[in-house]
Amino acid sequence: MAQMRLDKFLGEMGVGSRSQVKEMARKGRILVNGSPAVKADVKIDPEKDEIQADGKTVSYVSMEYYVLNKPAGVVSAREDGRYPTVLELIPQAKRKDLFPVGRLDLDTEGLLLITNDGQLAHRLLSPKKHVDKVYYARIAGRLPQDAVSRMAEGLALEEGWTTLPAVLEILEDGKGEKESQIRLTIREGKYHQVKRMFEALGCQVVYLKRLSMGPLVLDEGLLPGQCRPLTDEELRELNNA
Ligand code: URA
Repeated sequence: MAQMRLDKFLGEMGVGSRSQVKEMARKGRILVNGSPAVKADVKIDPEKDEIQADGKTVSYVSMEYYVLNKPAGVVSAREDGRYPTVLELIPQAKRKDLFPVGRLDLDTEGLLLITNDGQLAHRLLSPKKHVDKVYYARIAGRLPQDAVSRMAEGLALEEGWTTLPAVLEILEDGKGEKESQIRLTIREGKYHQVKRMFEALGCQVVYLKRLSMGPLVLDEGLLPGQCRPLTDEELRELNNA
């Protein structure tokens, strides 16, 4: 691996900002291969050199990948003034540059990939790639008889935009008396897309949960608010998606 500056390395690994690291180095709190680093801008090899900050070894992680079961009430953003963010649910994260791949609404639950791999995120979100996203929803209001075919044909949601064909499976039809339960597969991810598609049918989404994104599937055992690292197999599949 190429050499990099000590302060950049420690910044990426969340030890501190460049000025904090400089100060730590000045006080002898940072060791490179056992010797105090006098300057914070020395070049190190993150894979070969042993770096310690305040007595703890800092190992280099270049990419991190987590799957989160996003609970309601948490925003899919890196920062927010009002609500907790999805990143606060990944306390084991080493890097400071993680972000959620796409957004789920504040009240939506379910699968969210969190990483710092910008290329993977770009591929998964690119409108040209048409990655399948599967949602489970509970719907109030009467589902029209032709709901499945209208979803399959595409709905004109706004001037110049008709949704791509979507697959609607009716798990339980409440016939307008009770909530219906459905599964919907879409290949886009525009703002409030699932909610807007049901609104166009005269219905209202009262609960929404994402079950999968491409080959990545939410496991039953992962409760809302819980996360786990992606397996190597899942990462391979995502990269090939
Ligand atoms: N569609 C929506 O309406 N909301 C989401 O959070 C995701 C898809």
